[in-house]
Amino acid sequence: MLNSVENLNMQDLNQYINGSSLFLKEYFEKTIPFVDLIVTSPPYWDMKDYGEVKEQTGFGQEYAAYLKDIKKIFEGVYHIAKDSASMFVIVDTMKRDGRMIRLPDDISRELETVGWVHQDTIIWDKGKTLPWSRKGQMRNVFEYVLMFTKGKSTSYKYYIDRIKTTDKLKEWWIDYPERYGPQGKVPDNIWEFYIPTQGSWGSKKDFGEEEFRHACPFPPEMMARLILLATDENDVVFDPFAGTGVLLATAEKMNRRFLGFDTNPDYKKVFESVTKELVDEKWNEIESYYNYQNRLKKILEESIYKLRVLKYPKAVIKSMRNAIKKNPGWVANNFSLIIAIENKLEKNEVSLKNKTIGKVDYYFVWNDKETIVQAKNQILELISKAPFTKYGLIVNVNVLLVEEMSLLLDQIPNVLNVYTQGNTTNSVSVVDIKNFFELVKSKSLISEFDKDIPPLLSNVKIKYEDYEMLPAEKYEKKGYSKEIKQLSMLLK
Ligand SMILES: C[S@@+](CC[C@H](N)C(=O)[O-])C[C@H]1O[C@@H](n2cnc3c(N)ncnc32)[C@H](O)[C@@H]1O
Repeated sequence: MLNSVENLNMQDLNQYINGSSLFLKEYFEKTIPFVDLIVTSPPYWDMKDYGEVKEQTGFGQEYAAYLKDIKKIFEGVYHIAKDSASMFVIVDTMKRDGRMIRLPDDISRELETVGWVHQDTIIWDKGKTLPWSRKGQMRNVFEYVLMFTKGKSTSYKYYIDRIKTTDKLKEWWIDYPERYGPQGKVPDNIWEFYIPTQGSWGSKKDFGEEEFRHACPFPPEMMARLILLATDENDVVFDPFAGTGVLLATAEKMNRRFLGFDTNPDYKKVFESVTKELVDEKWNEIESYYNYQNRLKKILEESIYKLRVLKYPKAVIKSMRNAIKKNPGWVANNFSLIIAIENKLEKNEVSLKNKTIGKVDYYFVWNDKETIVQAKNQILELISKAPFTKYGLIVNVNVLLVEEMSLLLDQIPNVLNVYTQGNTTNSVSVVDIKNFFELVKSKSLISEFDKDIPPLLSNVKIKYEDYEMLPAEKYEKKGYSKEIKQLSMLLK
């Protein structure tokens, strides 16, 4: 057991130290802040006896004395945490003498007096729990994950893109690509992670099984999510109440440095002989989850981009039609064709602030010489506002007459993908633009295929197969074979 006046330094990293966190400030008296992330779960007051260890916090203490010690411990944690650090404290309420003890509130209050700032509360849904409840209390399945940062600092690490997911993506993302982030969805604040004591740990370990269960180990999947969110490789991850050390073992797997304290020497043994191996066993599963998510996110990113490029002109035409209701002088519905040519973004055009993701030349082919200037002005007015400003596209709008289409032959690719009947989510065919322009001129296309929205030609190709791995039901149900057949007949 570590002596309370012993001084520690950075060489003591990647260690599980058998000692009380009450003396963190003293141990690290001469050390500059070095911790990047803290994830921890303190004893829930006197709920559990963590072994025959006199120094343990909580067990056998009055509530006020317990809170005082908690405050002192987190003062020490504050002392060694970098300004860019964040901290996640996992804790739950408890019932005592027929009333609820709001431990999360009380702990948060103590921590704020030390300088920690409460940023967020996440509900950790543990899925399963003891199969009982009692009067005045439902079966409890969740705990609180309280997120804190140091002072008012906004420099804390928060790599949200890394933990965005394609889970629970509704089919709407296909029809409203401008509303969905290309990196996936930010996880909501209810997290489902099973506690690793109930059958999710594979083979039963003889040594330490009892202690392992007793210490309420963290799920390594949840630790991996927090480590990804708040640290870089080589950063220091710390747990002042390490228990079985799941956080530490997960940090090590992720090439982070770690440090843990616990008063119970048996848990250090469990960490060495059980936890490390169990996290190792679990690691493949965790890694494949993130690899799979990253693959899906890549597909999502590419698809959202393509869907936005293709939807944009259709949305312009629809907006023009709606605007007529408010502006009787407006013109609309005189389009014969739309062409969308995607260009490469120059480096200086990429703007993270405006979320610029692409650059497109749009050609709107208009039927009426008299109103072409007005049509262009209307389009420009519409696209200067939301939702068009939310597409993240640098747009160049051209409006030209049917008889001017031949001028484009030298300017744009000769073969383009075609989208018909207002469906910009699946290309029905590839066409030679010269032939296609002839069909447009003869007006045979408009009457055949596109009653409301004219055909769209583009160098951007998207087909259902490109993104059907992602969750959505809608596109699976639609059949477009008829359309393709009609089109190929016309183009013969
Ligand atoms: C809720 S458990 C933590 C479980 C841990 N999160 C895990 O994954 O196994 C609380 C731990 O705090 C330890 N503890 C109690 N008082 C302490 C103190 N003053 N300093 C360090 N550890 C202490 C207990 O021994 C126990 O292992």
